[in-house]
Amino acid sequence: MLDAQRLAALAVAQVLAGRNLNQVLQKELSRHPQLTPQQRALLQDLSYGTLRHYGALRAILGALLQKPLQDENIRCLLLVALYQLAYTRTPSHAVVDHAVRVTVQALRKTSAKGLVNAILRNFLRRREALLADAACASEEARYGHPQWWVDKLRLQYPDHWEDILARGNQHPPMALRVNRRLNSVEAYLDELSQAGIAGRVLGQSGILLQQPVAVDRLPGFSAGHVSVQDGGAQLAASLLDVTDGMRVLDACSAPGGKTAHLLELAELDLTALDHDSKRLRKVEQNLRRLGLKAACLVGDAADPEPWWDGKPFQRILADVPCSASGVVRRHPDIKWLRRESDIAQFAAQQAVILDALWRCLEQGGKLLYVTCSVFAEENSRQVASFLQRHADAELLPLPGRVERDLQLLPDQEHDGFYYALLAKL
Ligand SMILES: C[S@@+](CC[C@H](N)C(=O)[O-])C[C@H]1O[C@@H](n2cnc3c(N)ncnc32)[C@H](O)[C@@H]1O
Repeated sequence: MLDAQRLAALAVAQVLAGRNLNQVLQKELSRHPQLTPQQRALLQDLSYGTLRHYGALRAILGALLQKPLQDENIRCLLLVALYQLAYTRTPSHAVVDHAVRVTVQALRKTSAKGLVNAILRNFLRRREALLADAACASEEARYGHPQWWVDKLRLQYPDHWEDILARGNQHPPMALRVNRRLNSVEAYLDELSQAGIAGRVLGQSGILLQQPVAVDRLPGFSAGHVSVQDGGAQLAASLLDVTDGMRVLDACSAPGGKTAHLLELAELDLTALDHDSKRLRKVEQNLRRLGLKAACLVGDAADPEPWWDGKPFQRILADVPCSASGVVRRHPDIKWLRRESDIAQFAAQQAVILDALWRCLEQGGKLLYVTCSVFAEENSRQVASFLQRHADAELLPLPGRVERDLQLLPDQEHDGFYYALLAKL
C-alpha cells in the first residue's frame, strides 16, 4: 500500500493543481513499472475515490486542523488516508502506519510525522461525528461537487438535481457492445456466462455487466467480438439512421467507440476526423481490433477547408467536445478542474463546430448532435440557438422515440448524454 498511497497523494496533488487524472496516472504508472497489478488497481482506486469524495474529505480535514496546512503534499497524503479510513475497508492501523512512513521516508518530512499521526488518529476517534458534520458543513461537502455545479443543476433540474449529484459520486456501470457482425447478443451472453461473468441485455447490441471486469477477461475481446461502451453512448449509431453505402462523417471521433458502432451496423464510406493525432491513433487501433475500415483524418471540425474534399456528407455525427458533466463518475477530476466560465466557452466552441459542419452536410442529410453533458447551455439551448441561426435546419423526431431531443440523465444503466437530430432542408 505504501507506494499506492504515496503515488495517489501525488496524483491528487497534480489534479488539484490543474492536471488531468488519466494523464497523471498514465505517467506515474510508466515511471513505476515495478508496481504489481494489485498496486496499480489500488493506486487507481485511491486517486479516483479521493477525488470522488474530495468535497467531504476537504471539510473533514479542515475540521481536524487547527490552522491551514501549507504543505500540499502532506495535505494530499492526508486526504488519501482519510478517504481510506472513511470510505474503504482497509484496516485503519495499516492506513495510519503507512501514511506516517510515507511522510518520513518518501516525503522526508520528519517534522510532519506527529501531525499526520495525530490527524488520522483523531479522525478514527471522532469518525461518525466528523462524517455527519461534513454533510452539513457546505453543499460542496454534502454533494461532492463544486457549489456552482450544484447551483446550476438545482436551477436546471428542480426535480432531479440531487439524484444527478448522487449518481455523479457513485461507481459507474460497465456496459459492453457486442459486434453484431461477428456475434449475437444472446450468443455473447452465453460466452460471458461460461466465463463466469454475469450480465443482461441492454438496448439493441448491449450487455450490462453485473460487476465491472478487466477487459482481458472478456471472451474474444482482442478478436473484436465486443467493445466496452456505455449504454447511453450506444444510442448514437442507431439514432443517426445510417444505411449501406452512405457517405458519413464522424467529426469528433476519438477514441472511436461510435465510429466502430456505425461501421458494425452498416457498410459505410466513413471519414473519422479528430484534431488530436494521438487520440486518432486510438480510433485506428480500435477499428483494427474490430476488423473495420474508415478514412482516419487529423483535422479541425471547426475549419473543414483543409481536410474536406468538398463532397457533401449524407450523415454527420457531431459528438462535440463538452464539459463531460454527464460522465463525471468516470472522471471525478472533472468536477474540480472545470470552472463555471468553461461552460460558456464550451458552448461557444460547439456552436462554431456545428456551423462549420453544417456546410459539409448535403441537402436532405442529417446531423446528429451529441454531448456527454447534462448542462442545458451545451444541449437544448445550443440546439435552439442553432435552429434560430439556420433557417434550413429542422429538428427531427429521434428514430424510435417520442422525444424531439433526448437528455439522458446518469442512472444505473447509462451515463448522461444529450442527442438531437437535425435535418438539412
Ligand atoms: C466526446 S469525444 C468523442 C468521443 C467519440 N465520438 C467516441 O464515441 O469514442 C470528443 C472528441 O473531439 C475531439 N475534438 C475536440 N475539438 C475538436 C475539433 N475542433 N475538431 C475535431 N475534433 C475535436 C477531441 O479530441 C475528442 O477526441
